[in-house]
This record gives sequence, C-alpha cells and structure tokens, in this order.
Amino acid sequence: MIRRLFIAGCMAAVACMTVAPQARTAGAGETPAWAVEAPEKKQERMAWWTHDRFGMFIHWGIYAMPARHEWVKRNEKIADEDYQKYFERFDPDLYNPRQWAAQARAAGMKYVVVTTKHHDGFCLWDSDVTDYKSTNTPCGKDLIAPLVEAFRAEGIRIGFYYSLIDWHHPDFPIDRMHPAWTNDPEAVKAANAGRSMERYRSYMKAQLTELLTRFGAIDELFLDFSYPGENGKGHQEWRSEELLRLIRSLQPQVIVDNRLDLDHTDWGWDFVTPEQFMPREWPTVRGRRVPWETCQTFSGSWGYHRDEYSWKSVRQLVVMLVETVSKGGNLLLNAGPTARGVFDGRAVERLEGLARWMRFHDRSIYGCTEAPQEFAAPQNCLLTYNAEKKRLYIHVLEWPFKSLHLPGYEGRFKYAQLLNDASEIKYSTNTTPGSHTTENSAAGDVILDLPVNCPDVEVPVIELFLE
Ligand code: GLC
Repeated sequence: MIRRLFIAGCMAAVACMTVAPQARTAGAGETPAWAVEAPEKKQERMAWWTHDRFGMFIHWGIYAMPARHEWVKRNEKIADEDYQKYFERFDPDLYNPRQWAAQARAAGMKYVVVTTKHHDGFCLWDSDVTDYKSTNTPCGKDLIAPLVEAFRAEGIRIGFYYSLIDWHHPDFPIDRMHPAWTNDPEAVKAANAGRSMERYRSYMKAQLTELLTRFGAIDELFLDFSYPGENGKGHQEWRSEELLRLIRSLQPQVIVDNRLDLDHTDWGWDFVTPEQFMPREWPTVRGRRVPWETCQTFSGSWGYHRDEYSWKSVRQLVVMLVETVSKGGNLLLNAGPTARGVFDGRAVERLEGLARWMRFHDRSIYGCTEAPQEFAAPQNCLLTYNAEKKRLYIHVLEWPFKSLHLPGYEGRFKYAQLLNDASEIKYSTNTTPGSHTTENSAAGDVILDLPVNCPDVEVPVIELFLE
C-alpha cells in the first residue's frame, strides 16, 4: 500500500514535470472565485508595505547553537538523534525582544518577519500539534508571543516566516533537499514508507491556522519554499491553492510571498522575492512590473554563524537599501540572533550604522520609489523619488569635486539641499563659454555647486524640491 502510494507519488511528480508548462500557461488567466481582487484593492492592501520599504528578517532557532548555518542539519546530514542535542540545551537566557524591537526601530525598520519554524521543523511558538517547540526545551517559553507584543509596541508591523519544508516531521516525505536523502532510490523508498504527505498537509494547515489566529493581525507571511520537479515539492505537493485559500480566509489583508510555486498565476502571490542578489532593474512578471522584496543577509548565512567573515559594511548595506528603493523594491534585512538570545556585536554595529544614516535620510526611503524616466541619474548616483511630496533624492556614491552635473534638469526643480543638515546647495545653468574656470555644460543641464568636503555620512543625499 505504502509502496503503491510512493509509486503514485513519483508518477504524479513526473506527470507534473511533463505537463506543467501547458497547465501553467492555461492557469495564468483563470482566477478562482475566492482569489478575485481588483488591482486597486490589492494596491490598497499593500500600501503600507510599499510605503515602508524596509523590514527586519529574523532567523532564529536551535540552529543558532551549532552556529554554522541554518541548513546545518542538511549540510552535514545530521540525523534526528544527533540534532536533538541542540533541542535539549536550547536556553536563550538573554532573550529580550523589546531590545530587538528597539534596535530594529532605531535602524528604521518598519516591519519584522520572524521564523516561526524553519526547515529543521523546530517551532518557536507553543503549537498544539507538535512537541518539537521552544516550550519543551530548557527555555520553556513561547518565543513568538512576546516578540509580537514587543515589536508592535515599537510601532513595527508583524510578519511570519513559515517553512513549508520540514526535516523533522515524521510524515514529511524525504526528497532531494532532505538531510536523509540518498541517491539510492530503494533506500529512499524504504525511508518514506509510512510517511504521508496528506497528514503533513494537515499539519501545515493546523500550524498556519494557529499562527494566523493567535497573534492578532499578521501583516506579511513568508512561506518558504518550493522546488518542484523530480524528488522535489511544488504547488501540487503542498496543495498551494488550498493553503492560500485558508490563509486568505483567516487574514484577508496579509501580504504573501511567491514561494508557494504559484508564479504561473496572477493571484497566488503578492510579491516576488529575489534573495541574496541585486536585480538589475525593477523585476517584471509577464511583462509587468511587480511588487518585490529582496531578502539579504549581513554575512551570507541567515541563522547565526560564528565563523563567517563575509560581513557587509554599513556603507554596503546603506547602498543596498537605496538601490532597492531606486528600483521600486523593499529590503528585508536579516539578523540571526545567537542562542543566548541577542544580536552579536557585528550585527549591532551594522544596525547602529544603519540607524545613524536613517536618522537623517529616511525621507529618501519611506514613500519613495524609482524616479520617473525623465530624471536621468547623474554620474555615480542613485535616485529615489517621492511622488506625493514631489521630491527627488540624489544619493551620491562618489563625492565629486565641486560640481555635480544633472543632465536635462533645467526648470525641473526649484530648490536643492543636503538632506543630512538641510543646508542649501546653489546651482547654475549658465556657464560662460570659453571660461577656463567652469566647464561648459550641455543645454538643459544644471550644475550643483557642492562643498569640497563630502558630508560625514555613509552616503550623502541631495534633496531636490521639484516644480
Ligand atoms: C532560502 C533558505 C533559507 C532562508 C530563506 C530566506 O530559501 O532555504 O534558509 O530562510 O531562503 O529567504
């Protein structure tokens, strides 16, 4: 029976691989009745998110103890029995989510997305449907409830990350991502005997129901992730449509990522999620620009990683934030707390650096997006734009000597200032042809008269008040 189920599963996976392209194209236009939403309604639902632009990702779990990547169980093919030593000793005695929330707020982060369960299956809340949760470790506490309360108290919106993948659940069929995967099909078949995707799906539904009914309004849901095809899992295995329907019925306003493998539809996701790279331009789906949120790390790993040395500088992180907004996106920047329950010194330094910059420059981030085409970016600059306030923000990555040429900007703005200290920047359009002390600019150009010394901030910003 089990064997038959497994074979049927394999056949379904193969069938899915071969018929998927047609099914997908056909499906793109058909919206199930429960998922119908007018574009303006969706825009309204996502308005806070599009405005706020900057969030904190938190990856936390018992993998903070090995401290060498949240995928350690799979990377090192650790058996359940051996991974148990972390569960038995997890005791984040310094956990104080109010401190995290204050650090996030100071850094200008307007929402948080926290891992309620990662791929290792460990749950940070007091779920009714598993024993594999923080309350059963020496920590003895639900870690999500106080976090939600603390971040809300700082005016920060709440997002939950929930791993679709589960390397601990006894019903989750072993696939090519699983720590117990082997290239011996017979061994996999034997290990999968008795596992039931049907039961695992009920487990996911029960957990998502808990997460979406016990903690008040949830603003973002980050489901992670799909890898359809042979020995993988995608929308057919998750029954993604059913999951999304459940989610929408419980929290109609929640903003959902695109990792349910429903990219072939226009209704199965709210935003796309480029991870650990910077898109060249505003991402599109079927030719249309779509809402996007890039998730990035301080150092490469999401979970706390003690021995990782590829930490980005504060300046790199500021530029990353600016560049994301300059292409119309959101940045979800990750911090992986230690198993004591704090952000380590390197993370604190980055957060403080961001806080220093955001204190004076958040106006070029919140409510901003890509600048209209008519404004070309000056040399070595990134632009953001606030349509409502009619301001253009020029982020100067390399401080030029005295003159910044704004190509074709003549008549387009009426005042310019440095954002960090609101000091006026004078400008001119007329140069004297043939003068040996000024450069002749092209017709329509404006030359900003910059101070010789670069302002003492990570990335200086010039604010233009548009006509
Ligand atoms: C990936 C990884 C995961 C991380 C996530 C963040 O899907 O599997 O470890 O949580 O990206 O987006």
